[in-house]
Amino acid sequence: MGPFQYRDSELCCEEVSLRALAAVAGTPAYVYSKAALLESLAGYERAFRDVPHVVCYSVKANSNLGVLSVLAKAGAGADIVSGGELYRALRAGVPPKKIIFSGVGKSRDEMREALKADILMFNVESRAELRVLDEVALEMGVRAPVALRVNPDVDPQTHPYIATGLKTSKFGIPYHEALEAYEEAATLKGLAVVGADMHIGSQLTKATPVADAVARVVALVKTLRERRIEIHTIDIGGGLGIRYRDETPPTHQEFASLLLPALREADVTVLLEPGRSIVGNAGVLLTRVLYRKDTRAKKFVVVDAAMNDLIRPSLYGSYHEIVPVDETGRSRERETVDVVGPICESGDFLAKERELPRVEQDDLLAVMSAGAYGFAMASNYNTRPRAVEVLVDGNRYTIVRRRETYEDLVAGETAP
Ligand code: LLP
Repeated sequence: MGPFQYRDSELCCEEVSLRALAAVAGTPAYVYSKAALLESLAGYERAFRDVPHVVCYSVKANSNLGVLSVLAKAGAGADIVSGGELYRALRAGVPPKKIIFSGVGKSRDEMREALKADILMFNVESRAELRVLDEVALEMGVRAPVALRVNPDVDPQTHPYIATGLKTSKFGIPYHEALEAYEEAATLKGLAVVGADMHIGSQLTKATPVADAVARVVALVKTLRERRIEIHTIDIGGGLGIRYRDETPPTHQEFASLLLPALREADVTVLLEPGRSIVGNAGVLLTRVLYRKDTRAKKFVVVDAAMNDLIRPSLYGSYHEIVPVDETGRSRERETVDVVGPICESGDFLAKERELPRVEQDDLLAVMSAGAYGFAMASNYNTRPRAVEVLVDGNRYTIVRRRETYEDLVAGETAP
C-alpha cells in the first residue's frame, strides 16, 4: 500500500488527512511520508545485502534537513554536489565517512571544506579537477581519496536533459581516456586513488543500460589492477526511475540482480547514489484551487502552486498525476483542463490538456510524485515565498520547513 490513500473519503499521507494538514499548514505545501522514505531505503539495503555497500542518498533530490535526518538515522550516507549540500548532510548527522562529493565543477573552497570534514571520497570528473584537488590536498597536508567518474558512453534511454552518460555529455571522463587519467592520478602525491564511479542518467526505467555501463567500468577496473592501480569501490550512481504515470521501472531487487554478478566479480564495496527512487513517491505537493477560468477556447484551473514550486512540468514537460483530496470529487464529470499557477508566464503550468474530474474553486488537489526535485528546485520567482514542508509519521506530523515570510525574501538585500 502506498503512503497516499483515501481514508473516510479524504486523501491521507499515512494516517494524516491532507485536508486537515492544509487547514493548519496552509497551501501550497509539500507533504512527505517518513514510512515511504524508510521503505525505499530498506528496498536498496535488502537488494544489495549480499555485497559490501553504502547507499549514499543523493541530497539534490530533496535536501530538507528533516528528510536527510530520517535517512541518516536509518544508516544512509550522502551523495553531495556542493559545499551547501555538505553543510546540510553534516547538520543532518550523516557520518563524514559516508559522504561522497560528486559534481563537475567543485571549487577550491568546496574541496577544502570537504577535506576538512574528512569525507569518504571525491568523484572527480576531469583531469583538470584532479590537478586542482591534488594542489588543495597538498596545501592542507592531507591526501584526498578519489574515484574517477567514467563516462561509459551508453544510452540510458531517458529524457535528454537528464541523460548524463553519453559521450556528448559534460559529465565524467570519456571511457577511452580514463586509463590515462587514472595513471596520472596515481602519480599525484595529494591523491589516493580508491574507486571508480559512473552515473548514466536519471529516471531510468530499464536496468540494462546501467548493467552495460557497470560491465564497462568493471572491465576498466580489471585493467587498472593489471597496472597496479588498486580499486576498492565502484559507485554505480543513482538513476533508478519511479512510476509517475504508467512507467514500470525495475524493482530494487530486479535492478540489483542484473548488476550484482559483475559487481561481485569485481570484489569491491558498492556505492549507490539514489535520489528520486528514495523520495519521489514519498511526497506530494498540496495545492488549492483559486479560480476556474473557462474560456471558449480552453478551461483553466488556477491553483496556488506554480512553476516556482514545481518546475518539472514546465522544464521537462513532466507528467505528475493530479488528484482531488476529497474522494467524492473523483466521481464528478470529467473534463479537459490546463492546471496553471499564478505566475506571469505561459510556461507556468502543472498539467496541460489533462482530463480530470471537474474541480471547483477552493478544492484541494494533490500533485503526486513530487518528493524529488520538487522543493529542491523551487525558487522565489515573482517574489513568491517558498512552500511549507511537512513530514508525516503515522498519525503525527512535523513542519520540517516553515513557509517563507516576506521578511525572509528580502533578508540580505539593501537599498543603497
Ligand atoms: N548521482 C549523480 C552524479 C547525479 O547527477 C544524480 C542526479 C544522482 C546521483 C541522483 O539521480 P536520481 O537517483 O535522482 O535519478 N531535476 C531532474 C533530475 C536531475 C538529476 C540530476 N542528477 C528531474 O526533475 O527529473
